[in-house]
Amino acid sequence: MRLAASVTHGLLYVLLIALPLMGWANASARGWTVSLFHVVPLPALAAAGSAFGHTLGDVHKLTAWVLLGLIGLHVAAALFHQFVIRDGTLSRMLPGARKMR
Ligand code: HEM
Ligand code: HEM
Repeated sequence: MRLAASVTHGLLYVLLIALPLMGWANASARGWTVSLFHVVPLPALAAAGSAFGHTLGDVHKLTAWVLLGLIGLHVAAALFHQFVIRDGTLSRMLPGARKMR
């Protein structure tokens, strides 16, 4: 279970960083300017019209589903710990959870 949790958490972190970067590169390839909260313009990560940015867009779309699947697995594991094993894992993240029992 420790290994499964480490792998899932690790992949969640990796995808949470990589996915937005790939989306950003894809937006750049489409010739769009990406900005932070519509205030700070960010540099292009790929040349406009580049095949590299286009491919990253395809990977972006695919990995978004992988992230969604991992989130589903992660939430299911949290519920399994809470209601089946009842080992208090959830209360490590939600301090008020223990009082709900
Ligand atoms: C965790 C964060 C993100 C998730 C889960 C996500 C998810 C997705 C998904 C599922 C699609 C496919 C939509 C479709 O069916 O065509 C998509 C498309 C796209 N995303 Fe993201 N995205 C994220 C972050 C970003 C960021 C930060 C950018 C840009 C800075 C970005 C740029 C794009 C672009 C340009 C497309 C193509 C839009 C289009 O087809 O018209 N994404 N994203
Ligand atoms: C209903 C929603 C969620 C619940 C109940 C939940 C619950 C938990 C719990 C209990 C832990 C601690 C596990 C431990 O102590 O070993 C945890 C860790 C973590 N969660 Fe969630 N989570 C939820 C949603 C999410 C989402 C949407 C993401 C990211 C997309 C996420 C990312 C993470 C990560 C990366 C860790 C590891 C933190 C660390 O480095 O220790 N969680 N989550």
